[in-house]
Amino acid sequence: MQTQILVMDFGSQYAHLIARRVRDLGVYSEVVPNSLNYKDIKTKYPNIEGIILSGGPDDVVKDGAPQCDRKLLDMGVPVLGLCYGHHIIGHYLGGKVGLGAGREYGMTKLKVVMTESILKGFGKTENVWMNHGNSVTALPDGFEIAARTDDCIAVIQNKEKRIYGVQFHPEVTHTKKGKVLLKNFVFDICSCKKDWSMEHFIAHEVGKIKGQVADSRAIIGLSGGVDSSVAAILASKAIGSKLAAVFVDTGFMRQDEPEFIKKTFSSWDMKLIMIDARKRFYAALKGVVDPERKRKIIGELFIRVFDEVAVIEKAQILIQGTIYPDRIESGGSKDSSVIKSHHNVGGLPKDMKLKLCEPLRDLYKDEVRVVAKKLGLSDELAMRHPFPGPGLAIRIIGECTSENVEIVKQANHIVLDELRVAGEYDNIWQAFAVLLPVKSVGVQGDARSYKKVIAIRFVNSVDAMSASFSKVPYSLLEKISTRITNEVGQVNRVVYDITNKPPGTIEWE
Ligand code: XMP
Repeated sequence: MQTQILVMDFGSQYAHLIARRVRDLGVYSEVVPNSLNYKDIKTKYPNIEGIILSGGPDDVVKDGAPQCDRKLLDMGVPVLGLCYGHHIIGHYLGGKVGLGAGREYGMTKLKVVMTESILKGFGKTENVWMNHGNSVTALPDGFEIAARTDDCIAVIQNKEKRIYGVQFHPEVTHTKKGKVLLKNFVFDICSCKKDWSMEHFIAHEVGKIKGQVADSRAIIGLSGGVDSSVAAILASKAIGSKLAAVFVDTGFMRQDEPEFIKKTFSSWDMKLIMIDARKRFYAALKGVVDPERKRKIIGELFIRVFDEVAVIEKAQILIQGTIYPDRIESGGSKDSSVIKSHHNVGGLPKDMKLKLCEPLRDLYKDEVRVVAKKLGLSDELAMRHPFPGPGLAIRIIGECTSENVEIVKQANHIVLDELRVAGEYDNIWQAFAVLLPVKSVGVQGDARSYKKVIAIRFVNSVDAMSASFSKVPYSLLEKISTRITNEVGQVNRVVYDITNKPPGTIEWE
């Protein structure tokens, strides 16, 4: 398998989505920074068939705006510029870029002049999703207009040089014909071969892990989630007995998690090490209430424990199930901001001794679930809701005392239990309980009570980058609320979180 399409990132939220859409077409694609120059690309990717320049928030003509090597437009390899990438083409090749007739945000009517080449399969008008201030206001030499909107030149092309600029975003699902445009570019213009699938991904990553571990040994932290499980199975296929899988019981795991791990992984041929580190984690978090401090402390302690196991196992490499959204929200791209430090990314100490290997680093969760099924993991595991690395510690707003952990663990278990009984588990991205640092007055058994509050959060999402609160039936919420106030002695009130992401995040901390 080889990279056929490079996506050059100019700080777009969607750069990875573009690569993902290309992979969905069966063609391997990778995101690279805009600092990669002509020489680097020639050396590192001698067989690329096309380059896509991503969007980005900047103004291409301003000082300090992200740039790329101009020679990329002269390599003889087809280039597709999207939004900011389209401006790069216009600006570098002698056209004009500026504010033009106006800004366009959201759904916009595209008027197609040429329903061929990059726009083959488009109607005379199509709805496309726009998000721009600037546009190309004068064409570079040798280019023609393939489509317009009322306010801008929307698609330009130089068919001879195979360079195309598109103002809208074909990678987002709102642009109905977006997939058609990418298909035209990838297959008709770049002549890519459809030779990438999840089976190729598995074979490729197994090979890469083999190469990286070579003669040394590796450990992997198992959390019971689908990401680390898939990473563990890939690693086990790659290096067999040179791998030890480590489950660290921090005390902040889901109810009965150690038993679940033993049951799930005992049938796989891998060394499983169970470590009870509850006391260490509780002690490290004593008195800590700040969310980022919790995350950093937990991330660091995880690594300390892994370092200790690595010494015993004589391992030099730590394999992790980090996926793409974990990296982007931890400030993974130089133009993106840190939302929170995901424990397996932003919480890593600078002086860690183990080398990292992250086979799933470019995948989205739904892609990982497909890999899980291909690897033969059970549906129960493949479809498990995401669970954050720092665990219940970031679902306790306030101090993580053992009493608080017990409360949130029980409430969480009830939420998931009732969701399964209602047959809704697989329809929801994530469901959980959060313990709030407030008490409220209630009346129970004719007596006044003054107890804690649990918030329940159910969200729907495709990739965790954005999410909406789930409109679950009131009857289900009522059942959960009744069970929590009946069964969790310290709680007398349950509230439902009706916040989308953005502005909220999925977890509360
Ligand atoms: P947020 O709260 O940032 O969460 O909207 C997005 C998704 O990531 C999960 N999450 C984590 N996963 N380590 C992880 O492996 C972490 O530190 C972490 N923090 C949040 C969260 O549950 C949601 O699915």
